[in-house]
Amino acid sequence: MSGPSEPHRPPVERFTKSAARNIFYGGSIFFFVVFVGLTAQSHWHVLTNSTDVATLNDSVVRGKHVWEKHACINCHSILGEGAYFAPELGNVWIRYGGKDDPEGARDGLIAWMQSQPSGIEGRRQMPQFNLSDQELNDLVDFLEWTSRIDTQGWPPNDAG
Ligand code: HEC
Repeated sequence: MSGPSEPHRPPVERFTKSAARNIFYGGSIFFFVVFVGLTAQSHWHVLTNSTDVATLNDSVVRGKHVWEKHACINCHSILGEGAYFAPELGNVWIRYGGKDDPEGARDGLIAWMQSQPSGIEGRRQMPQFNLSDQELNDLVDFLEWTSRIDTQGWPPNDAG
């Protein structure tokens, strides 16, 4: 014998529209706050840890202007930014032995730039920019300064 029929119950709504809305807005706000926090943290890190402000002098600034004026970045990358036609130059100072012999590295880099194009067949060529001694020295100061930026181990080897 069957008992009295169960009263009809509406299905339980577990995931309501308002719950969906709360997840959407709550999630958006949460991740926006995380994003702003990480941006501020990165900015702080750049200013306090990875930038050597004390040695950021006039010649480094002039060297960067020479770098920009001659668009070295059209062929080279610096700290990974730029074109991949020619070697990475963020660590060229290290490659030229600047840590152990700064004078030798300076002379080597200047001689290199003055002797381009090499004309060696099968090698990519770098143009001659006819830079003055001042411009060459400023460029080297810029490259030396850049080599001290804390890139957290990038590039993974000296060859860049
Ligand atoms: C048209 C492309 C081009 C431009 C623009 C250019 N370079 Fe180069 N550069 C090269 C190439 C190619 C090489 C590598 C040549 C070789 O190894 O024989 C090179 C090599 C170098 C090297 C030696 C790198 C090493 O690891 O030995 C330095 C330093 C350098 N360039 C500096 C500069 C600077 C500074 C500028 C801007 C004033 C500049 N280059 C603009 C093409 C360019």
